Amino acid sequence: MDLIAKHIAEISPSLTLSITSQAKALKKQGVDVLNFGAGEPDFNTPQHITEAAIKALQDGQTRYTESAGLLELREAIAAKLQKDNGLQYTPFQISVNCGAKHSCYNAILATCNPGDEVIIPAPYWTSYPEMVRMVGAVPVIVETKEANGWKMTPEEFEEAMSPMTKMVILNSPGNPTGSVYTREELEKIADIALGEDIIILSDEIYEKLVYGENKHVSIASLSKEVNDLTITINGFSKAFAMTGWRLGYTAAPKAIAEAIDTIQSHMTSNATTFAQYGAIAALTGDQQIVTDMREEFNVRREFMLDRLKSIKNIKVVEPLGAFYFLVNIEPIGIKSINFAEKLLSKQKVAVVPGIAFGAENTIRFSYATSLDIINAGMDRFEEFCNQH
Ligand SMILES: Cc1ncc(COP(=O)(O)O)c(C=O)c1O
Repeated sequence: MDLIAKHIAEISPSLTLSITSQAKALKKQGVDVLNFGAGEPDFNTPQHITEAAIKALQDGQTRYTESAGLLELREAIAAKLQKDNGLQYTPFQISVNCGAKHSCYNAILATCNPGDEVIIPAPYWTSYPEMVRMVGAVPVIVETKEANGWKMTPEEFEEAMSPMTKMVILNSPGNPTGSVYTREELEKIADIALGEDIIILSDEIYEKLVYGENKHVSIASLSKEVNDLTITINGFSKAFAMTGWRLGYTAAPKAIAEAIDTIQSHMTSNATTFAQYGAIAALTGDQQIVTDMREEFNVRREFMLDRLKSIKNIKVVEPLGAFYFLVNIEPIGIKSINFAEKLLSKQKVAVVPGIAFGAENTIRFSYATSLDIINAGMDRFEEFCNQH
């Protein structure tokens, strides 16, 4: 007898989490590791958010909430989506979940039947294909080109479609690429999805981290028709440095929102109650903190871009959003996992191998770390590249 269900046995553990824990373990042993693996801001959660959660605990907010989350929080989310993104959602179309990761899974579980195909542009966030497999659906990977800024073109999208296509996953700003789709690009993709009734899962978790003149556009804001086919996902982890709070949300057409609520009512009940009070403070409090963190990220991004551009044997596309560099290591000719292992053992620099994102010839650096670490890390990385 197989102990593990077939479709689960095929799923691999998250490589991004495993590299980070290897680096942390080495650091604990006293090794001077420079960690570029982190998928989380290195800032602390702003004080007023933490205080709101502490107050909620002290006030006895320690019981279950509605499974979709506190109405007051869903109202604050609806107001945010309207104000920041031009999206019209009632609180009853919103579900608060245990992290945006959980939101993505709920959305896929609520909509995809076994055998349905889900189009995922690569390089992709490592969890999408595995989540799709977890519900018995089939990931269809579209290889995007570095020359197109790692973005899926309408032609590539159309080519990947089949009568079994149920969903397309978009992630702009993207992890690991940092790519940001323009309004025109989203319009073309939305038109194709509308033509074939394909659900759009739009993961907008890095929305607040867009640099320069570039703008984040929520695909569901393009028209009522697009909105009716889109599940918008966002959360608190990246914008408010709240990764450990485990809070994300879905905003979806009513029928999908109700299905997500039903799933959640049987799976987790609700996201942690006092954490939800922190989230209300995050959305209704001073937003300057979000801008401050973005500016700090941008300083690091520009610094690191300059350093990377001057390193031999690699290539890099300027990332316009999120906090990652996807570096093309193809000229060096070592597989990404071996490259990451060697870089860690020889130079004590931790990065995530591109294989985790369906992009074999790449490695991902996160710049959610200090300028000093970035500088020292680039020295070590340069030395490594010069030797190979
Ligand atoms: C693209 C993307 N979506 C979702 C998430 C999950 O965020 P959360 O911490 O809210 O679960 C991440 C986290 O790394 C991510 O990179």
